Amino acid sequence: MNTPSNAYPTNLRSPLIQYAASASLEEHRHHLAQTSLSALIEQNPERYRQYTVEAAGLYLDYSRHLVTPKCMSNLFILTEEAALNSHREAMFCGDKINFSENRAVLHTALRNQSNRSVSVDGTDVMPLIRETLAKIRTLCQTIHAGDWTGYTGKPIRHIVNIGIGGSYLGLKTVLDGLRPYHRSDLTPYFVVNVDPADLTATLKAVDPESTLFIIASKSFSTLETRVNAESAKAWMLEQGMPESESHRHFIAVSNNIEKATRFGIDPENIFPLWDWVGGRYSLWSAIGMIIPLLTSFTVFEQLLRGAHSMDEHFRVAPAEKNMPVIMALLGIWYSNYFGAQSHSVLPYASDLESFPSHLQQMDMESNGKRVTVNGQPVTFQTGPVIWGGVGTNGQHAYHQLLHQGTRLIPVDIIAPMVSHNPIGSQQSWLFAHALAQSQALAFGCSEETVRNELSTQGLNQDDIDKLAPHKTIPGNKPVSLLVMESLNPETLGALIALYEHKVFVQGVIWGINSFDQFGVELGKVLGDQIFQQLNGNTECDTGDQGLNAWIQRFRQAHQKP
Ligand code: F6P
Repeated sequence: MNTPSNAYPTNLRSPLIQYAASASLEEHRHHLAQTSLSALIEQNPERYRQYTVEAAGLYLDYSRHLVTPKCMSNLFILTEEAALNSHREAMFCGDKINFSENRAVLHTALRNQSNRSVSVDGTDVMPLIRETLAKIRTLCQTIHAGDWTGYTGKPIRHIVNIGIGGSYLGLKTVLDGLRPYHRSDLTPYFVVNVDPADLTATLKAVDPESTLFIIASKSFSTLETRVNAESAKAWMLEQGMPESESHRHFIAVSNNIEKATRFGIDPENIFPLWDWVGGRYSLWSAIGMIIPLLTSFTVFEQLLRGAHSMDEHFRVAPAEKNMPVIMALLGIWYSNYFGAQSHSVLPYASDLESFPSHLQQMDMESNGKRVTVNGQPVTFQTGPVIWGGVGTNGQHAYHQLLHQGTRLIPVDIIAPMVSHNPIGSQQSWLFAHALAQSQALAFGCSEETVRNELSTQGLNQDDIDKLAPHKTIPGNKPVSLLVMESLNPETLGALIALYEHKVFVQGVIWGINSFDQFGVELGKVLGDQIFQQLNGNTECDTGDQGLNAWIQRFRQAHQKP
């Protein structure tokens, strides 16, 4: 095993000085920056046992992190100082913790399998949730039986979800994650971007007579979704669908029943969503309807059950055994004490390809905040840049930077052990590489080992001196291993809920509101104004010469014969 050969930059550290435990954490960081993962593991071979927790079918091995029991104890104290327990109860109980929008945060109620009631403003929301689930089940039965027919009497065969952000990313993640559970008689499509290429590709692929469009939009005001829905409807009319038959082809999920009705959706075809479900947490609601439609209602129930198991774990497990809490604290450790700027999530499962994108919205839209709940600017780093992609693909691309780059990037490796696709020895190769990456990141390959190897290969001293620095891999990169037996509806539900709670815990410790997203609004307003200018013919005067020039050029490009 190697001795440490790199120290992390400390100039970006932003310790959480508002907490008493922070001073000890700074001392731990100072001490741990002098040691290495190799040394920590050598000193304590039992580390693997002490640093593994299990919950809802998931196993987290965090033994390859730059922490010691004392350091972890101080991190756990942060949760006490931040009153995590009462914040968590407030969320589960329906308090309006999203105070800037005066909303409760109750995605956990959507998957609540207990008999506990959950009240918002004195009303139990569980009957509403159960009623909506029953409506989804009926819709699934009708479509699966071929009893829901299009305007010419053909059964539905293509399902197009028109939605963006939380009305797309979570759904896509789950549908991709559950590929082995897909029905063979239905094909899913997602129309997301306002780029006309998106809708065009889908319209080329579907048969209008057997296509059902789901307009998924909490607000029913999102530009991309509105424009795509209007164009899809216009196309259906062009293809021969009588206006009076549009209820056979368009359904909606929204919190804005009025706007959905005004668009022309039959009120019977509007599935409700409530303001206490945040967009990025809405896959568990009727927004996720494409999931049971493409699989089965039973699969959707299993997904909810898996998430509920993680909710129960998060709610009752002591901090020292609590998986979301531990993951949140490790993230804070590197962001606020080691200056890490990003966090990489690497699923070793092709079916989880979309998961990092979903996490980007879940984490960065939640915790990309610059002021505390009191409106004061933070004096520390908040949400990291989340990025990643599936292994082993990334090993042949960006893992180079993880292994030999200059940045500290904590990594989560997510790895199911058993595949649904038992072809040859491929799953063993895949899992071998998941484990191999965690070893390579943590322990690297020391200069001494490299020199010995080169010498064994017969290189002369000059060449060894030249090559050794390039081939040395410092290691000491923190990595979590998140393992499950197989990727199934329950483990996938638990996995997504795990990250939701991790994001929540970090938000509580940073003292920010993780549930609003005002930062995305300015771009929408400017986009509307510039759209008017692009399509106008009056002289363009935005007050910004550069912007005026681009608007003129766009207009000219559209005047070309
Ligand atoms: O613009 C950001 C956002 O509001 C996300 O928070 C949301 O998930 C997405 O847009 C889509 O919103 P809607 O479901 O209302 O169309």
